[in-house]
Amino acid sequence: MTETDSENGERAGSLEIDVDDRDGSLYRVLSSAVVPRPIAWVSTRSEDGIDNLAPYSFFTVASVEPPVLLFAPVDGADGLKDTPRNARDTGEFVVNLVTEEFADAMNETSATLPAGESEFDRADLERADSSAVDPPRVAGAKVAFECTLHDLVDVGGSTLVLGEVRHVHLEESVTSDGKIDVDEIEAVGRLAGSLYARTEDRFSLERPP
Ligand SMILES: Cc1cc2nc3c(=O)[nH]c(=O)nc-3n(C[C@H](O)[C@H](O)[C@H](O)COP(=O)(O)O)c2cc1C
Repeated sequence: MTETDSENGERAGSLEIDVDDRDGSLYRVLSSAVVPRPIAWVSTRSEDGIDNLAPYSFFTVASVEPPVLLFAPVDGADGLKDTPRNARDTGEFVVNLVTEEFADAMNETSATLPAGESEFDRADLERADSSAVDPPRVAGAKVAFECTLHDLVDVGGSTLVLGEVRHVHLEESVTSDGKIDVDEIEAVGRLAGSLYARTEDRFSLERPP
């Protein structure tokens, strides 16, 4: 990291990071600048029948047609985390959207538990049967996308998990006239570290033609 001055054409006082010559990981820069991130709360069922649940905020829409979501687990100390391993082994998962009422429970499920222990039980969360896949939804989650595995893509120390949405669950409280009502969702976004953002402060912009 170097401080630059106006002599070489850069704005005085900026910090420039030469990625090939940096000290340590870019994690803090990436996760502080790419904000706010919605949180995929991903439920899977292991081949041994253990229901796993964990939050992933490196998460977005990959494609609309077909409808594909993606999230990006960074490898853990022992390689693949439980969620991508279960998604790979069973080909199924559910992306539950994290909303304000579930923020604490979501955080609890980010603890590193042995693969044989369920985060549903650890966080005292109720399971609800899914319609199109085997892993359960989080009961009460306002939005849940039931997915089958579309692809796993290795990107260095991460494994992108892409899932094709097979069924969407919307709680009645977030719909009006048969459509999803964004004003009712109260999603939370992850900022850096332990900071989160609410989505209640909104403004609107008309798009140019
Ligand atoms: C809000 C939040 C977002 C997270 N996002 C990610 C992420 O995008 N990628 C990742 O590898 N870990 C992420 N984590 C950490 C995982 O949730 C954590 O490693 C968890 O133990 C993984 O569980 P699993 O092994 O059951 O999949 C996040 C944690 C929190 C609290």
